[in-house]
Amino acid sequence: TERTFSIIKPDATKRNLTGKVNAVIEDAGLRIVAQRRIQMSQAQAEKFYEVHKERPFFGELVEFMTSAPVVVQVLEGDNAVAKYREVMGATNPEQAAEGTIRKLFALSVGENSVHGSDSLENAKIEIAQFFTDDQIVG
Ligand code: GTP
Ligand code: MG
Repeated sequence: TERTFSIIKPDATKRNLTGKVNAVIEDAGLRIVAQRRIQMSQAQAEKFYEVHKERPFFGELVEFMTSAPVVVQVLEGDNAVAKYREVMGATNPEQAAEGTIRKLFALSVGENSVHGSDSLENAKIEIAQFFTDDQIVG
């Protein structure tokens, strides 16, 4: 079993879709073992997306992620990292497969409803940015 880090992004929280996103996650067999709703600060968002800081959309991305509350989560299950990437669907919802969270709910490549870690190594780093061990109950 494995853990991955997830964020339900502002476009989804604003449309009251937290429960619907969680239903897709749970139907896929992933367990939500930690969850908290937060308002991300500018500094938190800049640090979280640091790998993208040279990208042209970085400013827009940070502005979007701080524009409304997000829900940060830890998901647990067999192959959780790869499985959640599958459940999320492609970054651009126009390319996302049927039944994926982004196909169902995303508005655009920027406002794409969810984040999921892209490797086990990054999952550990990202989980530690938002949760202490005692806040994760498997
Ligand atoms: P994350 O799980 O959020 O990391 O998405 P991803 O791994 O599918 O995509 P990637 O890491 O390449 O990009 C990170 C995030 O930047 C995306 O989820 C989008 O929210 C945003 N992003 C990527 N490309 C664009 C773009 O062309 N324009 C805008 N506005 N945002 C983008
Ligand atoms: Mg990514």
